[in-house]
Amino acid sequence: MKRHDLSSGATPVATPPIVAGCPFDPSGAEQLLNPHPWFAAARATAPIFYLPEVDEWWVVSYEDCLTVLRSTDTYSSRHVVRFQPFPELDAALSDGHPMSRPLVNADPPGHTRLRKLAQKAFTPRAVHAYEPALRKLANDLLDEFAADGSVDLVQQFAQPLTIQAICGIVGVPPEAATRGKNWIGSLEKSAVGAPPMADGDRESILRDVVDFDETVRAIVADRRESPTDDLISAFVTARSDDGAPSLTNSEVVGLVANILAAGFENTASAIGATVYFLLDRGEWGRVATNRSLIATSVEETLRYDNPVRGLTRYVTRDALLGGIEIPKGSTVMIGIGGAMRDANVFSHPDEFDLDRPDLNQHYGFGKWTHFCLGAPLARLEAIVALDALMTRIPNLRLAGGEKLESRWPNRGISPLTGLRLEWTRPESSGR
Ligand code: HEM
Repeated sequence: MKRHDLSSGATPVATPPIVAGCPFDPSGAEQLLNPHPWFAAARATAPIFYLPEVDEWWVVSYEDCLTVLRSTDTYSSRHVVRFQPFPELDAALSDGHPMSRPLVNADPPGHTRLRKLAQKAFTPRAVHAYEPALRKLANDLLDEFAADGSVDLVQQFAQPLTIQAICGIVGVPPEAATRGKNWIGSLEKSAVGAPPMADGDRESILRDVVDFDETVRAIVADRRESPTDDLISAFVTARSDDGAPSLTNSEVVGLVANILAAGFENTASAIGATVYFLLDRGEWGRVATNRSLIATSVEETLRYDNPVRGLTRYVTRDALLGGIEIPKGSTVMIGIGGAMRDANVFSHPDEFDLDRPDLNQHYGFGKWTHFCLGAPLARLEAIVALDALMTRIPNLRLAGGEKLESRWPNRGISPLTGLRLEWTRPESSGR
């Protein structure tokens, strides 16, 4: 495998890529839609570059990203989720921001303890048990629009499917789960990486985050009294070796916030994008007649157009990466969006190809310590969703001129938020 060649004696540069006169701006409208020309330019000249405007180092080659993912001592996760200043919110919360102690922000050994507890609900075996409920949920949602002849697949199908599924697993009751999308939307709008919060948004963000905090705290208190078989019950009944409860209420709320936020829009985005690419590339019919290819389609979508563009790490000591010195205290973005198109690993990386031999090299779910907790669930949800769509609406097509253009505007995570589809109304839309 080729590496960024340092043997020539040339000093590696860390200048950001420029495409057609336009410098890389991860929050720029054009790059949010399609950052790949800039990632490709960077891989060719400076695969590790510094963006002074946001004070971030971006790493976009496959091997360098792996080095950062592997070296948790040097590249810490302590600041993965950070929030924009919001004093009114700080004052309104009883015990800090609900997202301030989640799994994704922890390093070993603290991370290991939380991860072990959360892992139990997401093993492939545990996830397999959710399949009948997921199939029913998918078909119930399809019942609502299958006769309409058009749909916004992300808004009306993929998002309700994934939010209701994850709320059910965690133990948020259905009446509260209807507010789940607002909770997550507001948590995300208040995060660093999203556009600065508009004044008009602050009130609703405050209301939603406080509602989330209070609602989940009440469920946690209830499960301490009367545990059920949901994930919150598993968290509150977990015991340390001395028999004492191993998680505080705030830790449970943080885990729930992390799992709900991570378990919703990325999967909905992957479902929408997979449908888009299969229809756009003329592969829908082939996959519909060979459903085992659905899983392959989802994996290739996660390689080709992952909603996660960059993962944040905090540099704990002066580091040397790919010949570039990165000072202690810096923020590094692991540009997995760029890494998944690295031609040193993937042949014809800019093509969506269900037959590619190197597909299993992708790490669209991350790698090692923080490997996506919900990967087995996300995969199952996407397979169930596409299978149900193919059965119920086989003649699906993209609405005229539809492109992958509705995106959540965050430079690190930019999931698809809408996809218009049409079909000739079926004579029978029954199961
Ligand atoms: C296609 C959908 C998904 C994608 C592309 C995705 C991607 C990722 C990635 C790249 C990471 C690594 C983060 C890091 O290294 O900092 C991650 C972590 C995580 N994901 Fe997912 N994810 C998806 C779905 C889900 C679902 C359905 C859940 C529900 C449980 C979930 C829960 C988590 C959690 C809790 C973590 C943090 C794990 C840890 O820090 O140990 N994800 N995900």
